[in-house]
Amino acid sequence: MSTYTIVTGANGEIGHSLLEKLHAAGRTIIAIDLNPLHEHHAAMCTHVFSGHMGDVTNHELYNSLEQFDLDEVYHLAALLSTSAERNPELAQKVNVGGTLNLLELARKTGKRMQRPVKFLFPSTIAIYGFPSLTEKNRAGAVTEDEYTLGRTMYGINKLYCEQLGRYYDELYMRLAPTKEHGWVDFRGVRFPGLISAFTVPTGGTSDYAPEMLHAAAQGKSYSCFVREDAQIPFMAMPDGVDALMNLAAAPKENLTRHIYNIAAFAPTAAQIAGQVKSLFPDADITFAPDVNRQAIVDSWCADVNDNAARNDWGWNANYGFEECFRDYLAPNIKQRYA
Ligand SMILES: NC(=O)c1ccc[n+]([C@@H]2O[C@H](COP(=O)([O-])OP(=O)(O)OC[C@H]3O[C@@H](n4cnc5c(N)ncnc54)[C@H](O)[C@@H]3O)[C@@H](O)[C@H]2O)c1
Repeated sequence: MSTYTIVTGANGEIGHSLLEKLHAAGRTIIAIDLNPLHEHHAAMCTHVFSGHMGDVTNHELYNSLEQFDLDEVYHLAALLSTSAERNPELAQKVNVGGTLNLLELARKTGKRMQRPVKFLFPSTIAIYGFPSLTEKNRAGAVTEDEYTLGRTMYGINKLYCEQLGRYYDELYMRLAPTKEHGWVDFRGVRFPGLISAFTVPTGGTSDYAPEMLHAAAQGKSYSCFVREDAQIPFMAMPDGVDALMNLAAAPKENLTRHIYNIAAFAPTAAQIAGQVKSLFPDADITFAPDVNRQAIVDSWCADVNDNAARNDWGWNANYGFEECFRDYLAPNIKQRYA
């Protein structure tokens, strides 16, 4: 009998890349998303749930999913930072409620199969929160347990879900007469902003980097919504997807934590504009900071310390800042818009 890999948010930016890699690795995939998948991606999956039945907040969905034996759940479905800040109640429902539903599904399935289901969770640098730019700059690269007072609904949702995952893995219903914890093997990474050559993101606050690049590739002007000195960590999309899959493959006994920072490069917005101009010398980029979105970026860390991921499961980004633009973004994006 087949065992399945669930991907929620399968029609999103990360979802598309992840489906391709999981399919290439021979996984039997169940895809879930509010929006229907394009034929190309749907063909990689044995089951696709979309519309009302692809809504992670819809309890009917779980009646259909309980029949499947599961190896892994990649739970990507979420409202991103800008969308969540515009609609905090919906963010709570989707980001927290949806995660709780998926954790319950994984727990029940693990218990029925008598082996844990791996649960891969994409957290974010938005869980970090600095009260001032001075403190952010003083802190530099933060470790997982510092400055975790996020200042957006999205960051707060994600930090709570990290804790929920730890609870399901280590502590669930500890007063019950039988052992109820341990049926979910919860693992996650805190992604920096991810930059893809193939998709333009929506709803995030790190979107200025990919927006700048994709506008230049299409010969369009771009007005950047943060200051030139705004700094947060970024990563090439293939590295982000590899990180999730490599963490999934790591032996459990090597893991000293549930949630890991992962780093690649941490440029300022001006440095990103410089790289974009080196690829597209005619790029027209100006800076017109939006006070509120700038404040969110200023509250996120300038960089992360990823020593734990390096030590525990051998994390190492393939693309540094220059390689990301030269070897991944330049060839692919020029071809995409040719
Ligand atoms: N892209 C990044 O830079 C980044 C950085 C940090 C963390 N993350 C996390 O990675 C995950 C995926 O991000 P992404 O960039 O692919 O986002 P995305 O917005 O491109 O994709 C999210 C997907 O979730 C789906 N979705 C939203 N609500 C849903 C619901 N109720 N039920 C089912 N599907 C629903 C959307 O239709 C969309 O296809 C998210 O959890 C996000 O928080 C992303």
